Amino acid sequence: MDPKTSKLAQRLAEAGQSHLLQFWTALSPEEQASLTLDLEAMDFKEINGFFKNAMEMSSNSKEKMDARMEPVPREVLGSVTRDRDNLKDWEVKGLHCIGQSKVAVLLLAGGQGTRLGVSYPKGMYDVGLPSHKTLFQIQAERILKLEQLAEQTHTTKCLIPWYIMTSGRTMGMTKEFFSRHNYFGLDKNNVIFFQQGMLPAMDFSGKIILEGKGKLSMAPDGNGGLYRALGNEGIVDDMEKRGIKFIHVYCVDNVLVKVADPAFIGFCVQKGADCGAKVVEKTNPTEAVGVVCKVDGRYQVVEYSEITLPTAEKRSADGRLMFNAGNVANHFFTLPFLKDIVQKHEPELQHHVARKKIPHVDSQGQLIKPDKPNGIKMEKFVFDIFQFAKTFVVYEVLREDEFSPLKNADSQDGKDTPTTAKHALMSLHHRWVLNAGGHFVDENGTHVPAIPRDGAAGSVTDDVNINLKDGTDLPIKCEISPLVSYGGEGLDEMVKGREFRPTLMIDQNGVHELVKNGV
Ligand code: UTP
Repeated sequence: MDPKTSKLAQRLAEAGQSHLLQFWTALSPEEQASLTLDLEAMDFKEINGFFKNAMEMSSNSKEKMDARMEPVPREVLGSVTRDRDNLKDWEVKGLHCIGQSKVAVLLLAGGQGTRLGVSYPKGMYDVGLPSHKTLFQIQAERILKLEQLAEQTHTTKCLIPWYIMTSGRTMGMTKEFFSRHNYFGLDKNNVIFFQQGMLPAMDFSGKIILEGKGKLSMAPDGNGGLYRALGNEGIVDDMEKRGIKFIHVYCVDNVLVKVADPAFIGFCVQKGADCGAKVVEKTNPTEAVGVVCKVDGRYQVVEYSEITLPTAEKRSADGRLMFNAGNVANHFFTLPFLKDIVQKHEPELQHHVARKKIPHVDSQGQLIKPDKPNGIKMEKFVFDIFQFAKTFVVYEVLREDEFSPLKNADSQDGKDTPTTAKHALMSLHHRWVLNAGGHFVDENGTHVPAIPRDGAAGSVTDDVNINLKDGTDLPIKCEISPLVSYGGEGLDEMVKGREFRPTLMIDQNGVHELVKNGV
């Protein structure tokens, strides 16, 4: 071994990670160089510390939370159904902040999308809408439209910078995709990519896993890796330079996401909040969704696995589940709050342990794909910072209007699949058309009857013939370009009193009925 490698070997021995060089002599010079580079970049003391703390936290968290939990009090809650009278004011306030170029959006797009199982970043996915737009394009167009709406109200040019967090696994392809599509019409100077950190996968005894003879098994450090990346990549400074005051953070995979939702922003600003969480009502006690609540007086997300069934089933006087604030990883932060997290609290955030089946090489260097979990990935979560908020608020929206995540590949009766995402968007757009006074007829020219949405409180009419909640009905094929309407506004002139035969497409070129041959 040359002196450089001997020194590395000694560092590894001190860290209890000597096995990482076990195939050294079988590696080509290029492979040796690449492994050396990877290992030299690692702070083993820190990684071993993360492992120890994460495992400790994981074993402590077996204890159920029930006794320490309190639901979100009404005074910190804003709701699109229960506070309908305030919605317009909040929206105006939010649009005003956007119009003053004080609002940025931040996209969490560093995940690996393992469940969806595609080899490219999830934002590049086409869920099969009539337009075949990708998630990235839909979000970009919503930003463009919102800039226009804010400009119309405030008559000055406004910008919504879009910060896009990628990881070592998604950065190259994401950047290339945006550049190939000319940033979907956005100014490329306002689309800012940055990269989150990666951590090695470890076995249960804390040994880093090799996925090849000269290759470590690495994964992004969770969407809470955001806070470290914001500091390391100079993003907080960039926001400051641009005069940003408020940041909307969201996940790439929600096809319905209202990027920089003015009403949400306006609500948070009006409440003087430094941190806000958008939630959807959890209605089924056994749904595996984390709920926002207070634990020992501080806000946090409690996972379904951390509470007992009787607590999950508890109901308030109004009949709703007591712990019903379903977290959808959609947040509002002020810049001072984010700065405080980045500069002070980030190191206090603990990694969570995700037990996974991690492909690895055996002592012969053969690749093994385990059929049960053999190790852990360590991840921080974006919502772990609620505890540091001075004024925390919760904003409840309708699931069918705002939340349909793409997590899994299509399968029969699958949840959160391309098909459910596509149906959710078309169903929403169908409702927009109905609310704007349009109607649909089927292939035979028969008027499609309207059936009210249960439990939902649409702004104008609730007459929709689709109830996607049981997943059995198919939606009317209808898609409205975000460049035409951000949230259902501005459609009356185009649809009022008219009858449409699906597939209906409304885009900047007008209203089109696409006939079956795909024209
Ligand atoms: P998920 O936890 O659903 O992960 O991410 P995922 O990568 O999309 O899918 P699986 O679990 O591998 O199947 C929720 C959001 O957080 C982002 C994702 O890109 C998604 O927007 N995320 C996740 C990150 O930005 N970084 C991460 O390290 C993990």
